[in-house]
Amino acid sequence: MSTDLRSAAQEYMIRYGGDTFPNLFRSAKGSVVIDDTGREILDFTSGQMCATLGHNHPAIVEAVRRAGEEAFHLFSGMIPEVVAELAARLATDWMNPPLQKSIFVNTGSESNEVALRIAKMYTGGYEILAVGGSWHGVTGGTSAVSFASDRKGYGVPVPGVFVMPEPNEYRPYIKGLSAEDSALACLEIGLKMFDMASSGRRAAIVIEPIISAGGVLVPPRSYMQALRRAADERGMLLIFDEAQTAFGRIGERSASDFFGVVPDIMTVSKTLGGGIPLAATITSGKIEEDVHQKGFTFYTSHVSDPLPARVGLAVLETIQREDLIQRARSMGGYLREQLQELGKRYEAIGDVRGEGMLLGVELVQDRESRLPHHQLGALTTQRCFELGLSMNIRRRPERGSVWRIAPPLTISKADIDRGLAILEQALRESLDELAQR
Ligand SMILES: Cc1ncc(COP(=O)(O)O)c(C=O)c1O
Repeated sequence: MSTDLRSAAQEYMIRYGGDTFPNLFRSAKGSVVIDDTGREILDFTSGQMCATLGHNHPAIVEAVRRAGEEAFHLFSGMIPEVVAELAARLATDWMNPPLQKSIFVNTGSESNEVALRIAKMYTGGYEILAVGGSWHGVTGGTSAVSFASDRKGYGVPVPGVFVMPEPNEYRPYIKGLSAEDSALACLEIGLKMFDMASSGRRAAIVIEPIISAGGVLVPPRSYMQALRRAADERGMLLIFDEAQTAFGRIGERSASDFFGVVPDIMTVSKTLGGGIPLAATITSGKIEEDVHQKGFTFYTSHVSDPLPARVGLAVLETIQREDLIQRARSMGGYLREQLQELGKRYEAIGDVRGEGMLLGVELVQDRESRLPHHQLGALTTQRCFELGLSMNIRRRPERGSVWRIAPPLTISKADIDRGLAILEQALRESLDELAQR
């Protein structure tokens, strides 16, 4: 372990929010990361939900090597062959018509900036309707439409943003109804409020089809279909932010497939790059032609870079070759069952939800009150880490304490079992400790 580097991190780095571990980290392979003491830690979050194939999958390592022989980066006006190939592959194998045209950028935030700019230019409007609990990024436009993060302290957000209550089966805003009716009622009220406040210059509705940072909330299918109709009726584009849901994570090609709803614009990022910064915004030929005619620009230093595109192709090929969509379903099903079993033994597990290998486990003080158990969440997450399991907890006073569990789709059953055993031990010990306080 290098104490020098630990103090260098403290002395020379800007702290960027979230909980960072006291240790530094050295390397990662498959479902395991190694810290600066050489200790192995099982990664139940696929890094920042990006390492869907596991860390440093040989296909990705090979793609990076190959890019080293071809090109890492080019003048943005030179479209690399590999980028054309990736665009074609996305359109033919992964998207539903009419989604056909892609632009390749680097981060999820950027891909959503592209989507918002296209929607504004296409419609001539500027109003964006977003959903509570959402996270679309940290850049100007995307932070304005995000409601899971702290918005205070950064000045005036982009105007024209409206928010509607998110569907939350476990903590419904509108109580006493079925999950589906409550979700639809949230939408109805949200739309009424929006219509009341709108200046008429409407542009888009943006949603994460599974609201992840907001607590891994899965809306009913009818909600997403109603959202599609709501956008159409108002002349707005529907944007799906599939940063976390595309390319197998939820046991489908995309959330668009899962919900049976095709958006006007889809954004993808984390799960396309396999750990390398790659994101894309995909829309129809009609929309692309329209905004192109109007002078659409999103010209960055790294747009259409060949290195990430080579990796993206490798990611898509590996998902198909290793049948990872099916694996997300089967291993995700197993993981979910085991978490539900744990829920039978621990009152503190209030809810287990999600799809495929994107799961949420909500911790409560008791099942009757459903009061969030933030202390237990923090303590257990810390204990998990000490025992060799990295977990991610989302803690917000208004929407509970929720573990987001999203291991690599390639994780072995033995590693899932190992992680679950650590999780149970950590939970048991944390509950004991809290009882003694
Ligand atoms: C659904 C969703 N959209 C967008 C983003 C932003 O992506 P990035 O952090 O790559 O800018 C995130 C990141 O967590 C996300 O979860």
